This record gives sequence, structure tokens and C-alpha cells, in this order.
Amino acid sequence: MARPKMHLGFDFSYSHMGGRWRLPGSWPGRIFPDVTMYEDIARIAERGLLDMIFSGDGTGVPDTWRGSRDAAVEWGVNWPRQDLNPIMVAMSRVTRHIGYGLTYSSTFMHPYYTARLMNSLDHLTGGRIAMNLVTSTRRSDAANFGFDELMEHGARYDRMEEFTDVCRKLWDATEADAMLWDHASGRVGDPRKVHGVRHHGRFFNVEGPLNTPPSPQGRPVLIQAGGSPRGIRASAHVADHVFGADMALPLQIKQRQALDAALADLGRDPSAVGILWQTPIVVAETDAAAQAQRNLLLTAIPPEAVGAYLSYNSGYDFSTLPERFSLQDLHAEIVASNASPAGFVHELAVKLGAGTTITRAEFFEHGLRNATSYDTTIAGTAAQLADRLEEVFEATGSRGGFMLGHIVSLPGDLQAIVDLLVPELQRRGRFRTAYGGRTLRENLLDS
Ligand SMILES: Cc1cc2nc3c(=O)[nH]c(=O)nc-3n(C[C@H](O)[C@H](O)[C@H](O)COP(=O)(O)O)c2cc1C
Repeated sequence: MARPKMHLGFDFSYSHMGGRWRLPGSWPGRIFPDVTMYEDIARIAERGLLDMIFSGDGTGVPDTWRGSRDAAVEWGVNWPRQDLNPIMVAMSRVTRHIGYGLTYSSTFMHPYYTARLMNSLDHLTGGRIAMNLVTSTRRSDAANFGFDELMEHGARYDRMEEFTDVCRKLWDATEADAMLWDHASGRVGDPRKVHGVRHHGRFFNVEGPLNTPPSPQGRPVLIQAGGSPRGIRASAHVADHVFGADMALPLQIKQRQALDAALADLGRDPSAVGILWQTPIVVAETDAAAQAQRNLLLTAIPPEAVGAYLSYNSGYDFSTLPERFSLQDLHAEIVASNASPAGFVHELAVKLGAGTTITRAEFFEHGLRNATSYDTTIAGTAAQLADRLEEVFEATGSRGGFMLGHIVSLPGDLQAIVDLLVPELQRRGRFRTAYGGRTLRENLLDS
């Protein structure tokens, strides 16, 4: 029997951030946001038959650290960024098969606008678009959308579920064969196949329908990221595929089990929903070369910038930490502040023990390795990495695959994935040798 195949995305979100832009070999001769760099990335990723190119997003200038944006601007802490929708359009025009995953926040966006945009992108890419929905944890993002404070964690997921319901109603309101474009009669569409939506909910009132023709995939592939118990329940409601965090394997297994239970509760088939695990990765011809490349991450951001990175990632201002504190207390404070209960402090508490007390200096030392993704980056030869990916894939139910990313430098490290890791996975029968589907949804269903 054929072995279940993995799906591979490539997340380029951080290619110019986290100090990576200045590492050897990075952005050769180019500066963010030069679109020709992104076009090259798209061509390389498609040469490797990857399922999709993906990016996360954030819309504000981080100001969690000391309540100021200065550190973000000075050290490039998740700044600057751009709306990647036009960039992905450019990438899609130099490729034919690979899909594109764009991230939007259901906490801030309006579903009518987003559903309409996704419809247009699905047309433009010939059915290669995915939408990744996130709830947002950052005040700097919220402040740009008219919120004085961040919506409560559970309410953000309530809104995400309703947001998705509205989008689905909008995408489904116009039947797939509604368009006529009949030259002889002049009839453009069939009114019997275009329906109202009339959604009246807690967060949204939307009459519908969209004023767009039905798109190749009907709906974009829906991805969702969020790992708390409420986030996982939302995954079951929202997602075709889940974007999972790069946690320790036991936590990944736990998320897979929780997701399976949540899917079953909703009457959905757990075997149809994959998790694409966020996987920072460096592959090279030799282990030594891969380790040397990974070590560059420790030089990417200066020590002064670490607190700003951690604070942004956790949505909590670590500049206020006392000289010594308990991880448990800190975690409780983070939860109380409506930031994510998952994340760095939670992981550190799992690693060192929740009861551990730690000094500020020790916290930031661990933090450097976290902020740069050094700790979570797996590095090695293609065979070593394929072993590791197979282990995670099998332990988490042989569904979905990996969102490779957080690499050290582009384009070289993506080229290495395509030239070394992909052939190794193909040799093991774990990855496609040609695109089988017409749309991204079809390619993600290859098994
Ligand atoms: C793998 C992963 C990727 C994420 N990417 C983004 C992102 O690009 N932009 C964003 O605003 N939030 C992002 N988030 C944050 C989530 O949407 C969510 O707000 C956060 O994880 C807190 O929810 P939780 O407590 O359910 O995990 C991401 C989360 C995960 C786990």
C-alpha cells in the first residue's frame, strides 16, 4: 500500500524580519519589498512541487515593549510589512500550479469585503488561493481598526466562527452554474441561481449576495491558526486545514487529538482535515553545514532587541518583569491580560517546569533562542530531516504535513529544500512527483 503523502507549504513571512535580511546570502542585491525576489521564491517553490506559498500577517507597528514603537522600528521587529495580497498576485502570474495562502484577521476584517476579495483572487489564480484566518493578540493591530482594547480571547473566536459562516454563505449564494454569458440572448446570469444571504448575527449583518461570478474553487481553502482549547474548537468549525504551531511533539499530538475530538463533535470527518505544522528548517549537504547555517540565527538580532521580539510575540510587555519571578505567575498574568495562553512562556514553563523561578537575565537568554527560532529550527541533512518529518507526520495521524519556513536566508535555503529535502521525501514515497490537481484544494487532497 502507498504510504500517506505529506503536504508542504513554504511560509516566507519572516524572510526579511528577525534580522534575517542581513544574514549571509539573504536577499542578494535586493531590499524588501522588491517583488522580483518574491517572484523568484515562487518559481523555486513550484519547481519543488510544494503545495503552497504562505504568509502570516500583522497590521500594526509593534509597541508592546515599553509601550513604544521605537524598538520595533529600530530593530525591525515585525516591521516593516506589507499587504501581501498584491505580491501573491505577482507570484501567481509567474507560476501555474502552486497555491497561495494569505492571512487575514477575523477580529478586524469584515467578511463581505474579505469574501469578495478571496473570490477575485481565486479567479485570478485559477483556483489556487487559501485564506488563513487568525484572531489577533496585539493591541497595536486593534488600535488601527477602531478598538480601544483587544476583544476578549473567547469573543475573538466567536467572531471568527460567525465571520466564516458569513463568508461561506456569501460564497455559496451564487451557484456554480449561475453564469450564462449567452451571446444569442444577451442573458448574463440566471437569477434563479443567485440567492440572498440575509445574515443577522451577533457581530455581522450582511444581506448578500456577492456581486461576483462564482470562482474556480467556489470557496478558497480555509486555514486557521490558534492552539488554545477554544482555538481548536474554532479550527473544527472553520478550517479545511489547520496551521499548527512548532511545539514539542507531545503537544502536537495533544492538539491533533483535541482537534479530532472537536471535529467529531461537529460531525466532521477527522481524517479529512490536515494540520500543517509550522516547521523552521535548515537543510544542507552535510550536518555540519546545516548546523553552521542554523547558528547564524543567533547573530541575527542584537541583544537589545530580544525583549521587543518576545513582547510582541507574546502580546505582553516583558520590560516590566521583576529581577526574579515564577513562570507560573507570569503565565497567569499573561492569560489575565487576554494575550495568548499558548506561546513562549507556556513553552518555557513546560520545558523547565511551571513551578520554576527564573531571573530576568535567564529569561532573556532563553528568549534570544526563542525570538530567533533557533531553538525550534531543525537542521540537518535531507535524510535526517526526512526522518524527523516522518516521525512527526506519523505521530500526528499522517494527515496534513508541514509549513516549512523561518529559514535563515532566502533564496538559498529554499533552494536547498527543493533540491535536497524534496527528492529525499519523494524517494521515500512521502511527497508528490507531479502536481495532480487543478486547484489548490485538489492538490491538498492528494494522498
Ligand atoms: C501557527 C500560528 C500562526 C499564526 N499566525 C498569525 C499571524 O500571521 N498573524 C496574527 O495576527 N496571528 C497569528 N497567530 C495567532 C493566532 O491567530 C491567535 O491569535 C493566537 O495563537 C492566540 O490564540 P490561541 O490562544 O487560540 O492560540 C498564529 C498562531 C499560530 C498558532
